[in-house]
Amino acid sequence: FPVAVIMAGGVGTRFWPLSTEDRPKQFLQLFGERSLLQQTRDRLAAFVAPEHTLVLTNERFTYLVRAQLPEIPEANIIGEPARRDTAGAVTLAALLCRRRFGDPAMIVLPADHVIQPVEEFQRVLASALEAARREKALYAFGIPPTHPATGYGYLERGEKVLDDGGVVHYRLLRFKEKPDAETARAYVDSGRFFWNSGIFVWTADTILEAVRKHLPGHLGVLEPLAALDGSDDWTTGLRRLFPLLPAVSIDYGVMEKAENVRAVAATFSWSDVGGWTALEPFLEKDTSNNACRGRVRSLKAGSNIVFCEDPEETVSLIGVRDLIVVRAGKQTLVVPRQRAEELKELAEPKKRTV
Ligand code: GDD
Ligand code: MG
Repeated sequence: FPVAVIMAGGVGTRFWPLSTEDRPKQFLQLFGERSLLQQTRDRLAAFVAPEHTLVLTNERFTYLVRAQLPEIPEANIIGEPARRDTAGAVTLAALLCRRRFGDPAMIVLPADHVIQPVEEFQRVLASALEAARREKALYAFGIPPTHPATGYGYLERGEKVLDDGGVVHYRLLRFKEKPDAETARAYVDSGRFFWNSGIFVWTADTILEAVRKHLPGHLGVLEPLAALDGSDDWTTGLRRLFPLLPAVSIDYGVMEKAENVRAVAATFSWSDVGGWTALEPFLEKDTSNNACRGRVRSLKAGSNIVFCEDPEETVSLIGVRDLIVVRAGKQTLVVPRQRAEELKELAEPKKRTV
């Protein structure tokens, strides 16, 4: 059986005022009935048991994970006492997998992405799982790039090694995390690169071997911690040891340097929903092409994005276009969609001076 490792420790305020420091994106119900974290778990429910699902998050958010995923056993929810990025989370998860389950295949997933359709995702995942076990490879999931984004990792395709019923596997020549704009442009123009989706598949031993080679200090800190798993000393050990790690992502720390890296080409649609405009395709549209959550009354108003945390609320629009309107808690945001980037200036707590 595979083990799922959901990484849910990220912070961010690109969905302000809905997202706040105390409730980042993965815990939000942006569309449908389930939060992004819950949707991540739902996507796997068919073939990963709750007992085989680990969720790693900041200790400030463990209560949210418990509330949103009540089926996950308490011992599988790890609350990190400090933000040390994804290499620490992945390594700790792999060590716990090793102790609890032997050498299982691990599915590492960001908690805050949208993937559709689920069946296609599962088909690609099953193919990657089998190959990762067989080849002892580190598997990434490649997304065809649509523009030279600088916020993603890039995967340079090498030899095509397998076509598994339409799921195509490649050896990778290069894993480059977050290139500058010029490099990203050259990568996209070359036609040889995928975006890295942030989903990974490997066996516990394969990733631990790569960590031993490229981030040995992480094992020095986390092996003694993992040895406390299940004991009374676990929580104090976690608080004492985990903060000793340097903050580094699995992408920079391991994937950029590792050798046996492969990718499957995603045949599903993928979005990391980076902000209000990226949410638009997932919201309902009214007859004037307003993307809505909540009730919208509009008079000669179209192409707006309207979001109410409480779907019983109503927003009325007259004669406006291309606005983002958000109601959440006691806050209301109104911004032209072309200026949505400026949101961070208002959402950063230290700069909120008005
Ligand atoms: N447990 C834990 N602890 N989780 C974390 C931490 C941490 O310290 N930091 C981030 N995460 C979680 C986030 O919640 C998210 O689900 C995932 O790990 C990835 O972190 P991000 O901070 O969102 O990474 P990114 O978006 O900059 O880059 C990654 O994702 C891109 C695709 O969206 C990389 O993998 C890129 O290569 C990739 O293209
Ligand atoms: Mg991200």
